[in-house]
Amino acid sequence: MKTMRKYSQFQVFCFLTIFCWVFPGSTMGFGKNVQSALMYTDPYLLTPKPMTSIFICWLTSESTVKSYVEFGREGQILLRKEASTHEIIGMKTVDSSGQYRLPLRVFQQIVHLDDLQPMTRYHYRAVSESRTRRQETPVYGFRTAPPPGTPVKFILLSDLQLKPQSPATVRLAGQQGADFIVYNGDLVNDPIRAGEWFSLPGTPEVDERRWFNVMQQTGGGCRLLQYIPIFPCPGNHEIDDQRTMTHKNFARREAMSLRIYMQLFRPLYPDQEYGPNGRHWYSADYGDLHLISLSVFRWFAWPAHEKPGWFLFDDIGRRSPQYEWLREDLISAQQRKYIWVSMHWHVFNRSRATRIPFTHPADMPGNPTSMIYDRREDFIFRDLKPLWEKSGVQAVSYGHAHVYERYTSQGIQYLEASSIGNTYRNGKEPQCSGQEGGRYCPFVDRSEFRSFVVVSVDPAQGMVGRGIQASVEADGAGHLGRVFDTFFMAARPGRGDLLATLWR
Ligand SMILES: [Fe+2]
Ligand SMILES: [Fe+2]
Repeated sequence: MKTMRKYSQFQVFCFLTIFCWVFPGSTMGFGKNVQSALMYTDPYLLTPKPMTSIFICWLTSESTVKSYVEFGREGQILLRKEASTHEIIGMKTVDSSGQYRLPLRVFQQIVHLDDLQPMTRYHYRAVSESRTRRQETPVYGFRTAPPPGTPVKFILLSDLQLKPQSPATVRLAGQQGADFIVYNGDLVNDPIRAGEWFSLPGTPEVDERRWFNVMQQTGGGCRLLQYIPIFPCPGNHEIDDQRTMTHKNFARREAMSLRIYMQLFRPLYPDQEYGPNGRHWYSADYGDLHLISLSVFRWFAWPAHEKPGWFLFDDIGRRSPQYEWLREDLISAQQRKYIWVSMHWHVFNRSRATRIPFTHPADMPGNPTSMIYDRREDFIFRDLKPLWEKSGVQAVSYGHAHVYERYTSQGIQYLEASSIGNTYRNGKEPQCSGQEGGRYCPFVDRSEFRSFVVVSVDPAQGMVGRGIQASVEADGAGHLGRVFDTFFMAARPGRGDLLATLWR
């Protein structure tokens, strides 16, 4: 019988040290691996100029010695471009009691590729190296946007927020062959919780529901953030400190911030102005489409008429910075055939929240604890909607209520397609939206199953939206992938005559 050799404690220590240095991610069977990956996420694509430029971003757990992208046109040799590194300030991880209290260092790597050819396929992989580790991603690919006159397609998402059916719905959406994603706000529930964004040892979230894990699925031909750019807008769940939603003592508008959200999507918000009325809006052109992303949401966690009331994060009334930017942006887009507006707060919706005018609350005379709202000052109906109508906007999409409801008014499609991971409909809501005496009722109202929308922009057929069924509930009908709603939007006529109107 062969005698087993005995090793000293020092020899064992040396062996483990060398092993862990060579294989830094290994657990060696000695319990749960609590070391974070060097890359917290796969790459995600952002671009304010989709025809010629793309920002490849990813998150790491260390500042890294070196991060870069190797890229090139398909079939050509790869070029290398170094990343710039930015620390994401404000995320937290859990302490020993499981509470999100410990600051977590998160770093964002960004590679900006510019001077790209329009409508051209590129492939790339991202690489990060620290002193002890190296990680590279698989090779992914993207296509720059085409010039006007070429068909494009996008998917409409919002309100994932760790909801149970988000992974399955988004997987089906990612299989539609879209060119880009429009996201109508509410990404996670609580932005400071790093575990809601990406896999992080010790955090309690269901792994497959974390936002980046949902949005970076690749199974079954799913092509999402690594392959196509996303155009998000902020919702109420993008506020850094969500205690302001549940504790009135924290609810001070001037103390609120969109810092984490804006850092994650930094190339779309180069000014990085986090507080109310900072620049939280942008637009981009993709083929024949002009896409506008607005910041329209408010606070609502307590009864609307209790102080401090439901107040707006960003102003949108006439003469506000956002309204004035929007007006000028619409003027600049008058030659585009299609204009789509993305925002978070609903215009029309059956929920009772639409009974409260979208305006600043005011103290009720003689009652210091109560707030009132002037219906004549509803900024969406008094200011935004007429501006959209004058400038030939074809569609306004939004989220927040986690439903599928489509309305039409003055030739504009108003779409809430936010029944992605769940629905908040409980059968007790009014049948129609709350504004203007409740005379606006949904043209299509389908929240009994999960869904998403695919929009095709085609020079021959116009712009066509399709609601796609993504779940079959126990007592429901239909099938996965069924188109349950189709709506057409004709190309805008030459609207140069509107310029003078819009300047008034
Ligand atoms: Fe939501
Ligand atoms: Fe919301």
